[in-house]
Amino acid sequence: MSATLTAYVNGHFMPMEAATVHIEDRGFQFADGIYEVVACFGGNFLDLDAHLQRLKRSCDGVRIPLPCSLEKMSELIQETYERNPFSDAMVYIQVTRGAAPRSHLPSDPLTPTLIITSRHLPQPSDEKIATGIQAITLQDIRWKHCEIKSIALLASVMGKQEAHDRGADEAFWLNEQGDVLEGCSTNILAIIDGVLVTHPLDHQVLGGITRDMAIRVAKAHGLPVQERTWRLDEAGLSEAMMSSTTNAVMPICLLNDQPIGDGKPGTLTMQIRGWMIEAMDQLRAA
Ligand code: PDD
Repeated sequence: MSATLTAYVNGHFMPMEAATVHIEDRGFQFADGIYEVVACFGGNFLDLDAHLQRLKRSCDGVRIPLPCSLEKMSELIQETYERNPFSDAMVYIQVTRGAAPRSHLPSDPLTPTLIITSRHLPQPSDEKIATGIQAITLQDIRWKHCEIKSIALLASVMGKQEAHDRGADEAFWLNEQGDVLEGCSTNILAIIDGVLVTHPLDHQVLGGITRDMAIRVAKAHGLPVQERTWRLDEAGLSEAMMSSTTNAVMPICLLNDQPIGDGKPGTLTMQIRGWMIEAMDQLRAA
């Protein structure tokens, strides 16, 4: 029997099955909303403040007022976590502009919709960690505000489907210059000539909280880091990894059916992963 799940919807906690929003919610009709996914390990959240700050930047970016203060949101996130049965959890937070008769121009003022759910945080299997993931690249078909964590994810859904159909786990977007941007739900970082390289923060990528963590731990251990544009045909490219809240970092070993480096998880990639897993274990033990 599955445990009862509790969701937060607009001021109330309720059983997941009873949790609903209005059919004229602008999130439903226009994808007029933003979201966050934050990981919690044994009751301690990983970089919650950074997620809340990004949520605020996303709301500001699409001119949706915050539904409550960030302090209040932090309490609601904590309470949603506590009301659900998962020790390691991913807490999902979605803010939409609210419900109103359908019109592209939002009527003013609307009450934003806030929902929060908590689910088990899936861990990559030992086999995936040992063999690394397979990925493909696709021409970027997304909008030009990827720094906003928008719920309009149709391009990402299509990219994931294409990856899946081709036996791969993730698709990474390339821009018209051939720069490697990010995945459908992950950032991508590479080791080039012993340097950790990843696309700089701009409108073409989401500023991943896990990307920041990978950079932070790498620097702390003396690994040089460059945030610059990069391409797959660069000489000296020996490793690649993807990062996200649900993956920490994971080695990418096959890209478009070609091995990266020797086709095995990279040494520096696995070191970075190890440093991150250590930090997560410390949160569990705290
Ligand atoms: N996705 N880039 C994109 C396009 C993403 O959707 C995500 C996260 C990331 C990584 O961000 P972070 O390290 O902050 O999780 C990068 C989440 C996990 C999702 O959509 O479920």
